[in-house]
Amino acid sequence: MTVGSEEFKKAMQLWASGVAVVTSQSEKFGVRGMTVTAFSSVSAEPPQILVCLNQSVDTGEGIDENQRFAVNILNDRQQDVSNQFSGGSSQEERFANTAWHVGTTGVPILNESLMSLECKVMEKVRAGTHWIIIGEVLASNCRSGEPLLYFRGNYRQLADSLSENTASVD
Ligand SMILES: Cc1cc2nc3c(=O)[nH]c(=O)nc-3n(C[C@H](O)[C@H](O)[C@H](O)COP(=O)(O)O)c2cc1C
Repeated sequence: MTVGSEEFKKAMQLWASGVAVVTSQSEKFGVRGMTVTAFSSVSAEPPQILVCLNQSVDTGEGIDENQRFAVNILNDRQQDVSNQFSGGSSQEERFANTAWHVGTTGVPILNESLMSLECKVMEKVRAGTHWIIIGEVLASNCRSGEPLLYFRGNYRQLADSLSENTASVD
């Protein structure tokens, strides 16, 4: 027994998440990037994360060629960036309309993002229509701000102040 895709998507809309832009750079494809919510921390030692990318997306080709990618966690003023990188604009326009620079490992880093991780591909696992890409984190950069959130198919913002509700993960 299994659930249908519509029922599954409806259920997954109740998973609240942050929003990230995964970027890649390669000789053949240039700079590429796409919006994702399927991002997770995997391990601290060694530092590893994962992203799940549809097999049909452009950005995956750049990751395959260069074996490097970045995850840029968006802040609450970057809804427009999320829309552009999820198909609202061409790859050229996405990078022309967003301030970015080349990170220490050669991947595109979005200047305003709340946090960025530069990764090298450790493993790529096929699952249904998607690739699960596990990356080791080579560099990280944190900036000030609040995160952009996604819930029930809509962008959201944190309602309460972090200083009042800081949860320790130690
Ligand atoms: C909020 C949001 C979250 C998304 N999350 C994912 C995701 O986790 N994985 C994925 O493959 N596509 C995701 N998408 C869809 C891609 O961003 C979209 O298909 C994108 O245009 C693919 O990039 P491409 O132009 O490189 O093909 C998401 C879209 C939105 C709006």
